[in-house]
Amino acid sequence: MRAVFPALFAAAVLLEEGGRAVAVEPDELPAGRGREETYYTCSACHSFSLVAQQGMSWGDWEEIIDWMIEEQGMSDLESEERALILEYLSKNFGPDRPFWSQSRE
Ligand code: HEC
Repeated sequence: MRAVFPALFAAAVLLEEGGRAVAVEPDELPAGRGREETYYTCSACHSFSLVAQQGMSWGDWEEIIDWMIEEQGMSDLESEERALILEYLSKNFGPDRPFWSQSRE
């Protein structure tokens, strides 16, 4: 799994250079339970577009959250908040990437 991150990151940089990864505001994101919590938790250190352009399963999102906590200095999450964020991420930024493909491509 780790080996995949540099590739994702390179894709993110390309999108930035293409001028498409503009700042994403919370009200542009799909409505639903957990939207604000996810936005504010995950845009504290980087643009939310870095998150929104991914398409990952629940399990992969869990790994990302653990990686943010263990290696990037993100604060640990209460279990309820963690479940809420995971639900929002995997529903709206799942492997078929409904959000990104509809709004940015
Ligand atoms: C404390 C700061 C911090 C917070 C909070 C944070 N991140 Fe990150 N995140 C980082 C840093 C730093 C990187 C760049 C790491 C690297 O590429 O080495 C990163 C990179 C990423 C990446 C790109 C991975 C790649 O391909 O390189 C994703 C996806 C991501 N974060 C998701 C999230 C999500 C989802 C949340 C909220 C649950 C979150 N981040 C919250 C610091 C943070």
